[in-house]
Amino acid sequence: MATIMQNGHLEVKKISGSIGAEVHGVDLRNLDESKIKYIRQALLDNKVVFFRDQDLSSEQFLKFSAQFGQPIEYPFVKGIDNFPHIIHVLKREHETTNFGGVWHCDTLYLDEPPMGTILLAKEIPPHGGDTLFANQVAAYDALSDGLKATLSTLTGVNTSAKADASKTREDRIKDSGHKTEDLVSYHPAVRTHPETGRKSLYVNTAHTERFDGWTKEESAPLLQFLFEHQVKPEFTCRFRWEPGSIAFWDNRAALHNPINDYHGHKRSMHRITLAGDKPR
Ligand code: SIN
Repeated sequence: MATIMQNGHLEVKKISGSIGAEVHGVDLRNLDESKIKYIRQALLDNKVVFFRDQDLSSEQFLKFSAQFGQPIEYPFVKGIDNFPHIIHVLKREHETTNFGGVWHCDTLYLDEPPMGTILLAKEIPPHGGDTLFANQVAAYDALSDGLKATLSTLTGVNTSAKADASKTREDRIKDSGHKTEDLVSYHPAVRTHPETGRKSLYVNTAHTERFDGWTKEESAPLLQFLFEHQVKPEFTCRFRWEPGSIAFWDNRAALHNPINDYHGHKRSMHRITLAGDKPR
């Protein structure tokens, strides 16, 4: 059995060699300080943690999330009624585009991108709709010393406009009448995690357009190498959702990619993002 950590009845079981662990034996409606600390450590160790059978109301979901950080509003999406910090991630039966269906960390185009995101499954298709995660500390560690040295000098230019081309969340949102102008950020191509001190690759194909001081054409070959490298199977895990499942991922150390393989079925999730800091 793959249990690696225990606290009372809580257990952490890794679901792949590199990233992701299920946390069992906990009711997320009732957390004391020691359980919060334990879950936070499991998140730092595993980059994404999963919980099963947590049928939380919106109040309970918000309360759980706020124990780990400051919930923030999503820049392009209006929250659900009475809960501006909870957005509805929905693909209906007749739709073919899913929300965020490309490898990314959340809203890298903000000056202070969110530290974490928490997703609660409400309705899941009978098959498909899994989410992939990729460990960006492992991806960085696997690079040569030469490329690490080059990347340490580079700043990524990230834009919300790029995701339009990938037909993901931003162009759906532009139809919604909410915020519409493009956002651009400049962040180090390799960031240092403020809690663990570990370095991670901090570019992604949905948002990173070029390196600062480089043209798009000059940046493209190196970015393309990194986009392929950072999601190699050995850095990833795949999570199969059930209603009441929760995923809590660390945007500072992981990418994610929801798989769009369930046309004709509905998938409905509630999502909260937690405030982050200025990447360094
Ligand atoms: C997202 O990118 O926030 C959506 C993830 C998912 O639907 O699994």
